[in-house]
Amino acid sequence: MTNSTASYAVFGNPIEHSKSPDIHHRFAEQTKQVMTYQKRLINIDAFEVSAQEFFNAGGSGLNITVPFKLAAYHFAEQLTARAKIAGAVNTLVKKNGLIVGDNTDGSGLLTDISINLGWPLAHEDILILGAGGAVRGILEPLLGVKPLSITIANRTFEKAQTLAEQFKHLAGPTSLNCVSYAQLKNQYKVIINGTSASLVGEAPAVKPSVYNKAFCYDMMYSKEATTFLQQANHFGAQATADGLGMLVEQAAESFYVWRQCRPKTASVIASIRAAM
Ligand code: ATR
Repeated sequence: MTNSTASYAVFGNPIEHSKSPDIHHRFAEQTKQVMTYQKRLINIDAFEVSAQEFFNAGGSGLNITVPFKLAAYHFAEQLTARAKIAGAVNTLVKKNGLIVGDNTDGSGLLTDISINLGWPLAHEDILILGAGGAVRGILEPLLGVKPLSITIANRTFEKAQTLAEQFKHLAGPTSLNCVSYAQLKNQYKVIINGTSASLVGEAPAVKPSVYNKAFCYDMMYSKEATTFLQQANHFGAQATADGLGMLVEQAAESFYVWRQCRPKTASVIASIRAAM
């Protein structure tokens, strides 16, 4: 590591299939930033030690992926407002001698849905499936665009209830509700799958009519359409998209946090898609 070359990495476990190095190398080339970006497989119990070593050695910033986002939240010496609310950190940066934890996931989702896809969110009824860490990270940015309502539905209903309760004070004009899958009605403009069901080739058990005419987004991505998106297409969705755009947009936001320079994302999304 030399003084002139800023060094970045993504920490995760597993990490082999991470597309982050590809994405950041493309951003760096496009914006002519002199930097390195590597992926690092971190032992499950070695996050803090490895992150500390990285920054002690002069590292400039980290992306954090599964399963270390909560560990990174506790590791950070300072948190941005959006990281505090998300309860998780996917970006670390050294600023004025302090390691600051940020979270760019929600911003990435919002940019992909609103700007890249141009789907409606403001004044609309939004359904979010799932109530884990991934959903916690997107609730505040979504509430920020003032949908008419956000309904959280989860297989384990109590978790949806807890999340809705915790975010109620941020809801403003939006009606924030929770329901069980069985109670779902077919009245949502946009459906966001924030469950991890796609990882195991499953889709949340919602009735087919819920998909009808809805804009359906899966926060997961894969070469073939996820089971959720296959079902959405089959049962009459208005449009479907997977989370590759979100992945690239959260990376672009991290890049901006590190380099104060915003890369263009459309060509990067297209080339990462083509290489899948
Ligand atoms: P993440 O950080 O990815 O959100 P998590 O906190 O473990 O991971 O949450 C996983 C989410 O996916 C939960 O909402 C989980 O539902 P439960 O709370 O009922 O476990 C949901 N999930 C996982 N597999 C699912 C499946 N096959 N069908 C429906 N929901 C599923």
